[in-house]
Amino acid sequence: MSAMPTNENEWPGEEDVEPLSRRELFTGLRKALLAATGALAAGEAAHLLAHSSQPEPPESATAGRPEDYPAPGVTFVREARAYLVRDELGFYALDAVCSHLGCLVRAVGDGQNSPLLGFECPCHNSRYDAQGERLSGPAPRGLRYLVVELDTTGALVIHRDRETHPDDRLIA
Ligand code: FES
Repeated sequence: MSAMPTNENEWPGEEDVEPLSRRELFTGLRKALLAATGALAAGEAAHLLAHSSQPEPPESATAGRPEDYPAPGVTFVREARAYLVRDELGFYALDAVCSHLGCLVRAVGDGQNSPLLGFECPCHNSRYDAQGERLSGPAPRGLRYLVVELDTTGALVIHRDRETHPDDRLIA
């Protein structure tokens, strides 16, 4: 028997349903609630365990030279777990770590062939706009803006340990 009925004839009829006493009803509901809560807790625990096994991102990471990046464009820098965005004003970096439970968010649009429309988290479907502001989902806040600098060799460095203002740009 399929889980989803495909026509009315597959719906359970009255003869299939035994009347429940009030006590049976509450016991059944309680068990169902406990099972659902346990399943959710197990899912969250598995998710947290999966993430706790990932190495912590570095406090800062080099990201190559400015001329390596398209203008305009959005590039995921794995080492920094951040998106490096180059617009007409310069460079900025948005944290790719979701503010909910730490999954990596995906950019929607590459900012080059298609406009950057925002970010979405594959884990629990939080959504952020192109500026990293939270739009929906369980994420408690938007994405962080991270400081981007040039080191003494002229390479870009993304600082995960230093937040900055959304209007800040590195001109390079
Ligand atoms: S980790 Fe849960 S919505 Fe991103």
